[in-house]
Amino acid sequence: MPNSLKTLGEYIIENQTHFQYAEGELSRLMNSITLAAKVVNHEVNKAGLVDITGASGNENIQGEQQQKLDVFANTVFINTLKRRDIVCGFASEEEDDFVIVPEEEGGFHHKYIVLIDPLDGSSNIDVNVSVGTIFSIYRRVSPVGTPVNQSDFLQKGRNQVAAGYIVYGTSTMLVYTTGHGVNGFTLNPALGTYYLSHPNMQFPQTGKVYSINEGNYVHFPQGVKDYIKYCQREEEDRPYTSRYIGSLVSDFHRNMIKGGVYIYPTSSKAPKGKLRLLYECNPMAFLAEQAGGKASDGYVSILDIEPTELHQRVPFFVGSVKMVEKAESFMAMYPHEH
Ligand code: AHG
Ligand code: MN
Ligand code: MN
Repeated sequence: MPNSLKTLGEYIIENQTHFQYAEGELSRLMNSITLAAKVVNHEVNKAGLVDITGASGNENIQGEQQQKLDVFANTVFINTLKRRDIVCGFASEEEDDFVIVPEEEGGFHHKYIVLIDPLDGSSNIDVNVSVGTIFSIYRRVSPVGTPVNQSDFLQKGRNQVAAGYIVYGTSTMLVYTTGHGVNGFTLNPALGTYYLSHPNMQFPQTGKVYSINEGNYVHFPQGVKDYIKYCQREEEDRPYTSRYIGSLVSDFHRNMIKGGVYIYPTSSKAPKGKLRLLYECNPMAFLAEQAGGKASDGYVSILDIEPTELHQRVPFFVGSVKMVEKAESFMAMYPHEH
């Protein structure tokens, strides 16, 4: 690594003021996330070697098979964050209900909550394809000194104080925002240090990539079908290229760098969509907006949706502004489908 590259630690210290009212707490929180990510990264990297891959036999609350590494990553992130004395509660894809950090662990007096998808794209592990972790951070709204409650977790995405993801890919990267743009850090695995490799990441205004699981085409709403046909039509810069990894983190990451749109719509099979508002769509939407992109449910901004349940699903359109707007214009032709 050239000397000129800033480390994540240096970056955090230099940008302390990005964390409003935080007095170093959010920096400690970020530090523990990056530490947990190193542990998970190490485990994900050797997934092909040890008998840790494959279904663990349990189903999560949404009836999906949990992979062993999902459970491992969940435990690592929650335990690492708990030890820093900052977090009063967690919500996770892998936990049926939110987790209250007990008073014995000082939880009632801490100010931040973390929502997490510990391992995103986990069905890709067995085939050596990139997976990720997604996180979202809020200040609690309940009074300090009490246990966290549901209202702390059901906040609008607009209230996020930080959000990001780790992609365990050909390189491992941390990409995050505190509301002052988006920065990407690449892990040098030999040193265990993250370097600022992608300062001020920006979605190109438009792009040529559309990412959607087209196998579900016949089940999609008419607006999405029409948009797919638009992407495929021979005209100016079209047809677009289709790219779908099946790991939201990886598909989003590629689209942010190259320009593109990712869509996981409703379908007759998944009438509310598949992705979870609180720990998949909200953090990605915050990142998208901070990187000059856009995120919506096809009609309204993701960050303005009032959540009603912890594991709520929502249709998701995210990426380059012009592409998301174009897709929305097709959705608007079928308002009754909203
Ligand atoms: P998770 O592994 O956390 O359950 O998330 C998988 C998600 C997302 O990462 C991906 O884009 C999408 O599911 C893929 O779904 P399909 O296989 O239905 O396309
Ligand atoms: Mn996921
Ligand atoms: Mn997951």
